[in-house]
Amino acid sequence: MNETSLKKALSKINISGLRYFDSIGSTNDEALAWAASGAKDFSLVIADEQTRGRGRLHRTWHTPKGSALAVSLILRPDEIIKPHLSRTVGLMSVSITDALLTMGLALKIKWPNDVLINNKKIAGILVESVWSGSDVDSLVIGMGINVYKNSVPPDDSVKFPATSIEDELDKEPPAREEILREILSAFVAWREKLASNELIKTWEERLAFRHWQVQITSGDEISQTGVLDGLEDDGSLRLSDDNSNPVIVRFGDVSLRPAA
Ligand code: BTN
Repeated sequence: MNETSLKKALSKINISGLRYFDSIGSTNDEALAWAASGAKDFSLVIADEQTRGRGRLHRTWHTPKGSALAVSLILRPDEIIKPHLSRTVGLMSVSITDALLTMGLALKIKWPNDVLINNKKIAGILVESVWSGSDVDSLVIGMGINVYKNSVPPDDSVKFPATSIEDELDKEPPAREEILREILSAFVAWREKLASNELIKTWEERLAFRHWQVQITSGDEISQTGVLDGLEDDGSLRLSDDNSNPVIVRFGDVSLRPAA
């Protein structure tokens, strides 16, 4: 993957700007700075290697050279989209799963921000915002996708087991540029439907551990247990607690696991 092959693969997608790096600290850091200095809607930062990739909850994200997709997409939400910003992580996870499902992979979305194959993590999403007073000026949607085997971090460095497209396909994966093109074209189509029930329904149908007994952790504490029922309209998670009462889990510093 290089700038020329990326531009060629993405030529039919209406991208406003592209910054490509052979190596960078974090594409999200670059995208946040670019957004703050006026990047246009649908600008992309892509790197072949990250040396300080970041995940949720202050975790490190591993992107060795030539192994993965590390991409940050800048959005400038308009007034129509602003009421639905809490759906952004779902918008990206549904787009990633749309693209990878065409390869015949059995994918699930682990709420709030992970994509799984066979209960192992293949992709993570980190959404960050640039504020203008109390208004969201732009969003940066970072996604890391484990494409080749060497993108998978060692077992003892992760909280949840990980895998790669190459491991799960058992053959050479499509070029990273092509995978990205499929994800972005799905994203363009789903973005039009951000406010629709169809997005929530599709996200919900793809949820990992649906109807399982699960636990929500906050730090090292289990904050809630229950059966995973589905999603609320804003993308929050709905569980049934041990007395069958509905409990809503909002986005925040929380993680989901099947109950031990
Ligand atoms: C997570 O699973 O906690 C989210 C991981 C997000 C990783 C991506 S890789 C591209 C972008 N740049 C970063 O530093 N992080 C995101």
